[in-house]
Amino acid sequence: MPAKGLQNIVVGETRHSLVEGEKGQLVFQGYEIQDLAQHAAFEEVAYLLWYGQKPSAEQGHALRAEMAQHRSLPSGVINVLRALPEFTEPMDALRTGVSALGAVNPGTNIDLAHAVSLTAQVASLIAVFHRLRHGLEIIPPREDLDHGSNYLYMITGSEPTAAQRAMMNVYLVLLADHGMNASTFTARVIASTGSDLYSAVTGAIGALKGPLHGGAPRKVLDMLDAIGTAENAETWIRDALARKERLMGFGHRVYKTTDPRAEILRETARTYSEPAFFRLAQTVEERALEILHEKKPDQRLYTNVEFFSAAVMHAVGLPRDLFTATFAASRTAGWTAHILEQAADNRLIRPDVDYVGPTGLKWNAA
Ligand code: ACO
Repeated sequence: MPAKGLQNIVVGETRHSLVEGEKGQLVFQGYEIQDLAQHAAFEEVAYLLWYGQKPSAEQGHALRAEMAQHRSLPSGVINVLRALPEFTEPMDALRTGVSALGAVNPGTNIDLAHAVSLTAQVASLIAVFHRLRHGLEIIPPREDLDHGSNYLYMITGSEPTAAQRAMMNVYLVLLADHGMNASTFTARVIASTGSDLYSAVTGAIGALKGPLHGGAPRKVLDMLDAIGTAENAETWIRDALARKERLMGFGHRVYKTTDPRAEILRETARTYSEPAFFRLAQTVEERALEILHEKKPDQRLYTNVEFFSAAVMHAVGLPRDLFTATFAASRTAGWTAHILEQAADNRLIRPDVDYVGPTGLKWNAA
């Protein structure tokens, strides 16, 4: 029997992240995610993934400066974004923007320098597109701000508050890598053909966009809006499940307990969200878990990272249609680390498939 969806199939080795689905544990290069969320800056986590070790203070500053220097976008790429119609979704614009960056950076580019510059530029692509689609002036990047703060600054034109900076950093740290998820696998498959970094990340963005992967958090906020009040939660959830809909922000291919990132983001949302909004989110989570466990007792469905990601990005003040693109702004660090790891010890990824179609047909049969 083929493993539908490649569930539990080990396709390689990685040093970047360990996902322990039964224990609800996530580790980057040996460090527990709780430790990193509390103590590390996003740029330090990117360093950890790219270099395989914790940076010294000097190395951390140097990487932060290097990323800051690469935030500007080539004018040709800005023109590509400018040419997109205003109904273009941010993830489609980001995919196009990364592809355009590849077109102006042709050749062999699977190396650390391009991983750093692309990670810096992904945030700029999102912010620049956001400004353009609203007919606003593009805000030039600031080299004195960290990655997350500069991202928010380029979107809004204002320096983020301490609370926004803290939320953004925790979010970016938590989402930077996650084992052999669908978008990372996509990136590694593309890299394994000998293709380039920009093509691999363009493909990864396409994979991340789907609601079964990174496209869920906007839908979580839509769900919370539709539910409206804590009292409506149970009826709304039961009706949605009766219609065979999936509850966004619940269930995971690997975690068979609560996603550890969800635990951290729940506490972040508890600290920073408006109390009434947090109470609604928490009640919806509680009712959803009760009802999912009642209706699908064998499935072990728990809260995944996207449920409280939505709450935290909402508290930051990001528009909901930027949520998935913001996920990409973090995950580009992990994607590029995996692309480098693939290229360093490459073999073409080319699985097999069972043929179940007809045989022996004749094109010119009477
Ligand atoms: N709501 C309702 N039922 C669910 C949910 C959910 N959120 N998740 C899984 N199920 C049910 C399915 O209906 C199915 O039930 P059935 O066997 O009675 O038909 C069973 O659980 C197994 O579902 P699969 O799709 O086989 O599980 P898989 O491991 O492939 O799915 C996934 C994981 C895609 C994340 C799924 O849980 C889901 O669709 N969740 C909602 C979307 C979401 O939150 N996406 C973000 C994921 S986190 C991330 O990628 C960063």
